[in-house]
Amino acid sequence: MKLEVIAAPTLLKEDTLKGCLCAVIDVLRATSTIITALASGAAEVRPCLTIEEAKEGAAKMPHGSRLLGGEDMGKNIPGSDLGNSPLEYMSGEVVRGKVIYSYTSNGTGAIRKAYAGSGQPVYIAALINVSAASVTLVKAAASAQNKDIAIVCAGRYGGPSTEDFFCAGMMADRIVRGLRKHGIETQLSDAASAASDLAAANRGNGLGVLTSSEHGRFLESIGFADDLVFASRIDLYDVVPVFDGNRVILLR
Ligand code: MLT
Repeated sequence: MKLEVIAAPTLLKEDTLKGCLCAVIDVLRATSTIITALASGAAEVRPCLTIEEAKEGAAKMPHGSRLLGGEDMGKNIPGSDLGNSPLEYMSGEVVRGKVIYSYTSNGTGAIRKAYAGSGQPVYIAALINVSAASVTLVKAAASAQNKDIAIVCAGRYGGPSTEDFFCAGMMADRIVRGLRKHGIETQLSDAASAASDLAAANRGNGLGVLTSSEHGRFLESIGFADDLVFASRIDLYDVVPVFDGNRVILLR
């Protein structure tokens, strides 16, 4: 079985993901926030391609049943209920039962692109659920026939980001070990091997990876240092959200 890591969605060709089991990572912060929202009781998250799509979707729903969240270049969307800090989505009182319409600069588009390219449900991963997401991919791959695995990093404004690549490397290691238990050997692409090397070189240094990354430094500079600490908490949650083409819900 092949395991590919795509360092940024701009590297995807039309058929890269076709038929693949696919996960998307945006550690800072879209997938960390989506995982937190659903783990805290949100009903579903709608990842949107544009701010207008998010606003229009939210406007169609009864007030009180939905929230509009996300960010645009780090700033809250005008008129939104929440930004894109995972800490804002931790309170059950705020998110329980809510449908959350979200637009973010890189993450929500990466989720939509991965679904469009793979034609399969897309798993949502970050450091805070890295083991659960890996186990889910292993189970799906072990029971699927002839399906390769692709981990798509949302990256930053078209390019790669260290924190997503680091998380992809942690997943690659877990997937290789997990599949071996099923008697399946995994062939890593060069990008997957490089990601795995990055993860091995930074074992136990997740927060360091985040604080020294470009986007981590940017978030710190605009007052979100606490988000880095939160997003670096390995396996905080044992849940795996999945995008079915319309909505992200928790896999049961
Ligand atoms: C994104 O999608 O680009 C991010 O999640 C940005 C952020 O919230 O820091």
